[in-house]
Amino acid sequence: FGLLGYDPGFLNTASCKSRITYIDGDQGILRYRGYPIEQLAMSSSFLETSYLLIKGELPDKERLAVWTYNIRHHTMTHANIIKFMDGFRYDAHPMGIMVGTVGALSTFYRDAKDINSEESRKLQVRRLIGKIPTLAAMSFRHSLGFPYVLPDNDLSYAGNFLSMMFKMTEQRYKPNPVLERALDVLFILHADHEQNCSTNAVRAVGSSGVDPYTAIAAGCAALYGPLHGGANEAVIHMLLKIGSVDKVPEFIKSVKDGDGRLMGFGHRVYKNYDPRAKIIKEIAFQVFEETGKNPLLEIALELERIALEDDYFVSRKLYPNVDFYSGLIYQAMGFPMDMFPVLFAIGRIPGWLSQWIEHVKDGEQKIARPRQIYLGEAERDYIPMEKRP
Ligand code: CMC
Repeated sequence: FGLLGYDPGFLNTASCKSRITYIDGDQGILRYRGYPIEQLAMSSSFLETSYLLIKGELPDKERLAVWTYNIRHHTMTHANIIKFMDGFRYDAHPMGIMVGTVGALSTFYRDAKDINSEESRKLQVRRLIGKIPTLAAMSFRHSLGFPYVLPDNDLSYAGNFLSMMFKMTEQRYKPNPVLERALDVLFILHADHEQNCSTNAVRAVGSSGVDPYTAIAAGCAALYGPLHGGANEAVIHMLLKIGSVDKVPEFIKSVKDGDGRLMGFGHRVYKNYDPRAKIIKEIAFQVFEETGKNPLLEIALELERIALEDDYFVSRKLYPNVDFYSGLIYQAMGFPMDMFPVLFAIGRIPGWLSQWIEHVKDGEQKIARPRQIYLGEAERDYIPMEKRP
């Protein structure tokens, strides 16, 4: 096979050089453009963090105001997108709807094909960040048969999303400020994570020169998979299966005996506490103060307590990851489990976009085209139908 390296899943291959996100998995460090995730979660907003990821620097007051205005200006969707949405079956999975509608946006904005124009890229960035929450809320309401809610651009990014999701009367929706801030921070925590499966998909599809809507639809498609966007839902199912705190030791034993995994634990890169999980755990308590405790919380806390003291998990460096508590929070806020990957996609949009832009501008990049190690038949002659065994 000559000099070909065999690297399934590209675990040991750097596919790009990047200046966006830094992870040190052994130390449990995550930084966007050099800024620690803890500081951004504490002090930034999702729109400011999006600016940082895409443009590389924090905005001053005026730049942030213009950025926010520009994104708000793009929260509406074309009327035909509504017809497109209506075409999905009543029980369509919201993430499947997202894959389809984000891809469909490319047919509405032909100017997006001009990927080498900075002006065009800027416009598509604003459109995508602006429209994703609108599409996400529509995908939810479609599944319930509820009328769609127009964006309320006087609300914050997260507040408007909550309004489009949960508004049920003619009266203006007033988001609970604790839940609004918690959701904004959850979006920040999901905003980028270097070359994960969906970002790799965005870069690989984008490397063909396609428009950003199509590349980002590929990211949504990757996130639809249970190993990527589905782990927090799996945590809820696991906690429901355990059923009560006294059953936790029995469950831990079954995991150690090889019967399934402890969902929301372990990470390919973090061999320490996932820094996002620490922040999410704090948010969980703030949210439960408002919504009342999620009854599954006690089971989760006991599971974490036992696992962090158990040799099996300690020796394998298995710690809670971002998904361990996020599902519990989303559930307490009123989101159905089908929406969990959609929430992930809203948060990941600026990461996907910044990585796509970096890829487009990277003069060293080529179309993604890995090689293979061929294990099939050697050359053989075609056999006419009547002579086949
Ligand atoms: N529960 C029990 N054992 C585990 C777990 C777990 N969650 N994760 C890994 N192990 C064991 C595994 O059985 C293996 O043991 P042994 O050496 O005896 O064979 C050892 O730990 C190493 O496992 P691995 O599969 O080589 O580890 P990986 O780095 O390939 O897998 C992972 C990472 C996230 C896929 C895995 O930890 C897992 O399946 N976790 C549960 C699912 C989950 O929570 N996924 C969300 C990931 S974070 C989301 C994101 O950032 O996108």
